[in-house]
Amino acid sequence: MSTEQPSSVAVILAAGKGTRMKSSRAKALFPLCGKPLAYYPVRAVREAGIERVVLVVGYQADAVRQAVGDGVDYAMQHEQLGTGHALLSAEETLRGFTGTVFVHCVDAPLLPSEIIAELLAAHRQSGNAATILTTRAANPGNYGRIVRTPSGNVARIVEARDATAEELALKEINAGTYCFEAPLIFELLHAITPDNDQREYYLTDVIALLCERRQPVGALVAPDEATVAGINDRVQLAEAEVYLRDQIRKQHMYNGVTIFDPASTFIDEGVTIGRDTEIHPFTHIYAGTSIGEECTIGPSSQLFAAKIEDRVEVISSRVEHSTIRQGAKVGPFSHLRPKCDIGPGAHIGNYSELKNTVVGAHSRVHHVGYLGDTTLGEDVNIGAGTITCNFDGKKKSETHIGNQAFIGSGNLIVAPIAIGDHALTGAGSVVTHDIPAGKVAFGVPARVVRDRETE
Ligand code: UD1
Ligand code: MG
Repeated sequence: MSTEQPSSVAVILAAGKGTRMKSSRAKALFPLCGKPLAYYPVRAVREAGIERVVLVVGYQADAVRQAVGDGVDYAMQHEQLGTGHALLSAEETLRGFTGTVFVHCVDAPLLPSEIIAELLAAHRQSGNAATILTTRAANPGNYGRIVRTPSGNVARIVEARDATAEELALKEINAGTYCFEAPLIFELLHAITPDNDQREYYLTDVIALLCERRQPVGALVAPDEATVAGINDRVQLAEAEVYLRDQIRKQHMYNGVTIFDPASTFIDEGVTIGRDTEIHPFTHIYAGTSIGEECTIGPSSQLFAAKIEDRVEVISSRVEHSTIRQGAKVGPFSHLRPKCDIGPGAHIGNYSELKNTVVGAHSRVHHVGYLGDTTLGEDVNIGAGTITCNFDGKKKSETHIGNQAFIGSGNLIVAPIAIGDHALTGAGSVVTHDIPAGKVAFGVPARVVRDRETE
């Protein structure tokens, strides 16, 4: 990808409320494949080589700032008076800057960095005062229409709600993405008036002003209309989600991941998956998850910010903010709640719930149980139906179980408690006192009866 000169800056308009979303949440914050809308244009302009990015914020400005973070400049649009007014809000931030201002709307997240780089190159080569990104839309809907002169030059942009029937029939639409020149653009923005149906200051009106001043205006026609799609309502949000999700799945498949049923497999942006991993149907892999090589995930699994090493199986299970190490097996029907660390070769079996629990290498929690705030050593066996009683109604307490311990079926282990290495408990025990290493205990409450023999 070409590296842009520092003579280009990007301004992303993200101050709008998003009225048509009918939401209490600002549009820039809506999640798309697990990341806020605002994430995508910021990343795309960076990838196109533009280093300086100004985000115009206004509605729920603090939340948008928090979602995007440091590394961009923020300009405040105190009142949302239209896209022209939004760009003008960046004037102070860009005072003294001379060069190309790339402008993009935050609600068009699918634009690839290659198109941005192409638009910048076309703008630079042409020496235009403005270059507009357009596309030919099968159904131009509510997009602004590009009005051209009989000789084919761009004359102006008309918003759909202000357009005549003849203009509405035009198929070339404004993507909401432009290159302008500073300081000229700011001078023009001071001259536009809210003389339209919405009583707003339209950025699009600067095009007619430039043409009146005989300044050259050009357009680059994007080949794929899907990539310039704007999101104004939840139907368009869902359409963008379907498009992006498809791209994400294809990328993983090209990288060597098998996805048996793409239509029922949902993978968020930024998830990493190693080669020869197989994803079975009805599986949702949420943001922040990484999966190693040769794993089997699904069917019907949900992974939330999970760290999964190589050759792991997660079958019909839910994993939240937890790590599963090499060769471990989880499921079917297990639930790992946050902060679990399942050691290499360990097995968490049917109908088991674990929370804040470390399971040592090759330990087994095969059937039906609950372990909370627990550490298991290596090669521990937890019998079917065993529960750690970690909550006394007021506070949580920890359970520690040593290496090679054998916990019989149906135990209740009342925390805080420690069971030593190689200890053994009989079936149905209620363990209320620590059990020293190597001892056998059973009963209600469990009492130590003898040493455990080594096999
Ligand atoms: C805009 C264009 C339209 C184009 C379409 C492409 C104008 C007048 N219209 O229409 O020609 O086809 O995008 O998707 O520019 N914003 C602010 N402050 C404001 C108003 C808006 O920051 O006061 C931001 C919004 O957060 C949004 C962007 O500007 O990201 C565009 O605003 P929106 O209301 O979505 O414009 P459209 O009707 O989609
Ligand atoms: Mg829009």
